Amino acid sequence: FVPFAAILLSSLMNQRIAAFAAIFLSIIFPLALAIESIPFLVINIVTAMVVILSTPTIRRRKEVFVVFGKAWLASLLVILAFNLYETTAFSLSFVSDLISTLIFMVLTAVLVVGLLPILESLFRIMTDITLMEFMDPSNELLRRMTIEAPGTYQHSMVVGNLSEAAATSIGANGLFCRVATLYHDVGKLANPQYFTENQLGGVNMHQLLTSTESAQVIVAHVSEGVALARKIGLPEQFIDIIKEHHGTQLVYYFYRKQLKLFQGDTSKIDEKDFRYSGPKPRSKEATIIMLADSLEAASRSLDIFNEKSVLELIETLICQKTADGQFNDSLLTFEELGIVKKTLVKTLLAASHPRIKYPPHHPGEEG
Ligand SMILES: [Fe+2]
Ligand SMILES: [Fe+2]
Repeated sequence: FVPFAAILLSSLMNQRIAAFAAIFLSIIFPLALAIESIPFLVINIVTAMVVILSTPTIRRRKEVFVVFGKAWLASLLVILAFNLYETTAFSLSFVSDLISTLIFMVLTAVLVVGLLPILESLFRIMTDITLMEFMDPSNELLRRMTIEAPGTYQHSMVVGNLSEAAATSIGANGLFCRVATLYHDVGKLANPQYFTENQLGGVNMHQLLTSTESAQVIVAHVSEGVALARKIGLPEQFIDIIKEHHGTQLVYYFYRKQLKLFQGDTSKIDEKDFRYSGPKPRSKEATIIMLADSLEAASRSLDIFNEKSVLELIETLICQKTADGQFNDSLLTFEELGIVKKTLVKTLLAASHPRIKYPPHHPGEEG
């Protein structure tokens, strides 16, 4: 039971809580059940620690069995040590202990693999194991993106790295940011060629559309993304990121173009035609992804790419989004926003990916 509790707590919560619970349970159980306490205590603590330390290495669900295999080997060493201490190294009880612990470990691993998804959906928690599975590039949707919307895929990878670094710097969930970001623009698969990152050197499809029509195509990547995500069963937490990564912002490029057409008369424009449906970011992670996303897209239009220009750009983006009320539901504090800003700038400058420059004020540079 102790290794079982240890793996559940270390995947659903964290290693420290899992280690504390494992030690606590290993002490309490022998006392409560009035059984021989020292071997029980040592076996449970050792196997629980092996399980806790191995949990972060799990990349796929079936690797839970590998972890319990290691725990079984560790328990064998402990049992052997106790047997040697009692000078009955290869007694019958050793063989029966060996078999019973093996059966116990296999059953526990089966139970963990079966229970984890249920607990994840019950508590709306995503374990690192689940996140890792969604990061696999052989995943059908990611493969489609690399072929049909390579620019969007590249953009998503960079935004993933940026948001992971920023989230980690304030103690938010970096891995979640990295993986969820891979899917934030999947809706662009419906019309990849209408987005700047996929039309480099090609025809600008927006030339054939009015500003309102162009804005509608751009905005639709959110609803298309939600529909696609639901169809293939992506987790709700990823769907929240798809919905929230543009909040209720305007598609500025086409809004300004339309405004110019009506000589700045806002009464002639229905703002709703140019706004994303939202909601606004409601978590720290969603807020970070929104910022990283627009920073990555907008930074490609910079004439001079250095610390000063990137810092100025992110400050402009933050001011613009704050004035537009996009951070009203965000859980990010001012202090955290400051750290996020610095980390995003530092990470973007350090990113060694080949930068494909967009022409200034290019349509669709919305992220
Ligand atoms: Fe994006
Ligand atoms: Fe987007």
